[in-house]
Amino acid sequence: LHLDIDASAGNATEFTVAAFIETNIGRTDDGGLYAELVQNRAFQEEDQYLSLTGWTKVGERTILMKDAEEPLHALKNSLQIWLQANETRGLRGGISNAGWWGIPVKPQAYQASFFAKRALLSAPLQGTIDLSLSSLTDGRVYASSSIPARDITTEWKKFYATLRPTRAAPDANNAFNLTLDVLRQDQGLWVNLVSLFPPTFKGRANGLRPDLAEAVRDLGVKYIRIPGGSNLQGTTIEHRYNWSSTLGALEDRPGRVGLWVGYQTEGLGLKELLDMCEDLGASAILGVYAAYASDDESVPNTSQLDKYIESAVNELHFVLGDPATNSWAKLRADLGHPEPYHLEYVELGNEDFTSTTYGYRWDRFTKAMSSAYPQLKYVASADLAEAAVVDLHDYSGSDVFIGFFDRFDNRPRTGTKVVELENAVITNNSAAAFGDPEFRLLFPTLQGSIAEAVFMIGMQRNGDLVLSSSYAPYLANVESTQWTPNIINFNATHVSRSTSYYVHQMISRARADMVHPVVADSAFGPLYWVATSATSSKQTFFIQIANTAPPSVSLSATISNLSQRATASQTQLKATATVMEAPGLPVNVSNTLDNLDLVTPKALTVHASLHSQARVLSFNAEIPGNSFSVIRLEW
Ligand code: AHR
Repeated sequence: LHLDIDASAGNATEFTVAAFIETNIGRTDDGGLYAELVQNRAFQEEDQYLSLTGWTKVGERTILMKDAEEPLHALKNSLQIWLQANETRGLRGGISNAGWWGIPVKPQAYQASFFAKRALLSAPLQGTIDLSLSSLTDGRVYASSSIPARDITTEWKKFYATLRPTRAAPDANNAFNLTLDVLRQDQGLWVNLVSLFPPTFKGRANGLRPDLAEAVRDLGVKYIRIPGGSNLQGTTIEHRYNWSSTLGALEDRPGRVGLWVGYQTEGLGLKELLDMCEDLGASAILGVYAAYASDDESVPNTSQLDKYIESAVNELHFVLGDPATNSWAKLRADLGHPEPYHLEYVELGNEDFTSTTYGYRWDRFTKAMSSAYPQLKYVASADLAEAAVVDLHDYSGSDVFIGFFDRFDNRPRTGTKVVELENAVITNNSAAAFGDPEFRLLFPTLQGSIAEAVFMIGMQRNGDLVLSSSYAPYLANVESTQWTPNIINFNATHVSRSTSYYVHQMISRARADMVHPVVADSAFGPLYWVATSATSSKQTFFIQIANTAPPSVSLSATISNLSQRATASQTQLKATATVMEAPGLPVNVSNTLDNLDLVTPKALTVHASLHSQARVLSFNAEIPGNSFSVIRLEW
C-alpha cells in the first residue's frame, strides 16, 4: 500500500473521542465508580419496602425490624436492630454487609459512618457500637473501632469512625459489620445510611473508586456525556432523573428506581458527576431530562410541560450561573464550586427518535434554555434538521461497522453537526443485533474493536461534520451486568480495559485539528486509513490504519508540501507507532478479568525520513493483519 498525503490541503476537524458515563447501567455508579463500599446502605434496594439485600444478621438474639417507619430525612427505610435480653451474658448483635460482591481490604484508612437513634422502647444504651472489617472466610478481624453506645439518643445523629487495617486481606471475601455490644437487657436502635468509603480518586469526599476513575482518565477524552442514556429517562416519568434531588447531604437524596437495576442512591449526583468530569480533565456533555420516559410516555404539549422546562433551565443555572444573582448557582457555590463548570454541549433527552413528541419538546425546551444560555450548543437526541448538533447511536456487528466507513461521506453539509455518542460492535450476527443472545458479545473482541476503528476513521475523514464519538456502555460490574459488551469491565478488586478501550485510547491520543487528503494506490478495504495533523505546539502528523484482513501489508507513504517551518528542524523528527494486534490468537479474542492484558497496544516499527529541500517526509512500516495502528510523526 502506498499513500501520498498532502500536508498543505485539507479540512479543519474538531473530532475527538468522548466517554459516556450512564449511571445505573452495569452498576456504573453504586457498586462501581462511586466508591461507597456498602451495598444498599439505606435499605432501599427494592424501593418501597425496607430491603435487606446485601445485609446479613449478626447474633442469635438479633431481630431486624421491618414493620415500622422512622425516616431519616429523605431516606424512608430505616432499620431497627433489636437485641433480645439474654439472662446469662451480655448481648452482641447487629448487621453485616459483604459489599458489592466483595470488599477489598488494604492497609489504608476507611471512613465509616452511620446514622442512629435509640428505639423508643429501648432503655438508654450501655456498652459500645462496634464497626469492623472482617474476613468472611475465616472470621479474622482486620480493623475495628468502637463508639460509646450511650452517645446514641432518641434523635437521629451521625456517627463516624476510621478503620485502619494493618495488612491486606488475600481476597475480597470480607464484610463490614455494625454490631452492638451491650449489657443484659432489651436494647434497640434505628440505623440508616450505613456507609464505608475507602480512599477516593483525588481524595474527594463522597468520591470515586480510584482504579475505575483512572481507567476513564487514561483515555484522555475531552468530553464525558452524563448521566444517561435510558437511565436519564427513567422507567416512568415519576422515576425520571431529577437532578435537583441528587444534590447536597446524602440523607437528603431520596434516590430513585434504577432503569437498569435495583435502586440508585444517587450518591454520585449531578455535582459529583460534574466534579468527576473536571477531575478527569474533561467537560460534560450534559443530558437534561426531556419530559419523556422509557415507557414511551411524554408530558403533553400544555402547561404541564412548564415545570420540566423550568427544571432544565435551573439545571443550567446550577452548572453555569452566577451565585450573586441566581439561587441555584448559589447552591453550587455553597456546595463548594463557586466558579461555573465548563460546559459547551447540552443534550436534550436520550434516543428521542423513538418518540413522536420530540418536535414540540425540542422547540420549547431549547427556546427556554438558549434564551438563558445562548452560547451553549444544544444537541438533539433524534436526527432533527433544525438542531445545531444531532446525536446518532449505532449498535451492530463488525461487518456493519466496517460498512459504516463511508457513512458520513455524502451526508449533506447543512450546518447540523453530528456526534455519535453511543456506538459499539455488540454481536456476531448483524442481522440479529439485539435478537438472538447466542450471538451477543460478552466483551469487546479485537475484531469488533478494529471495526469500531474503521467507523471512527470514517468519522475523522468527515471531521468537518462529525465532532465526537463514544463507545457505549462504558462500565460494567461483571457481577451485575445488564448489557454486554462494555468498554471497561470490573469486579470488586480488578479493572479490565478491553480491546475497544485501547483502540479508543489510541484515537483519543491522536487528537488533531486538520484532516488531509490522501491519494492511495489501492481502494479502501480491507485496509482503511486517515491522515490528520495537529499544529498546536509542534507539527504532528497521525496516520491511522485499520487492517480488517489476516495478511500483513507493507506500507510506504509520503507527506508532501510540508511548510518551511515544518522542515526547518529535521533533526528533531520522531517517528513512533502503536498497534493493537493479537498474533497467534483468534481475532475474536477479548481482554477479560481472567486475562487482563491479553491484547494491549505494542510498539510498531516505523522508519521515517525528512527531505527538507523537497519538503517531503517519507515513511514505511509493516502493518500486521487484523490490526489497528496509529503512526505518529512529530518534530
Ligand atoms: O448504552 C446502553 C443503552 O443503549 C443506552 O442507555 C441507550 O441510550 C441505548 O439504547
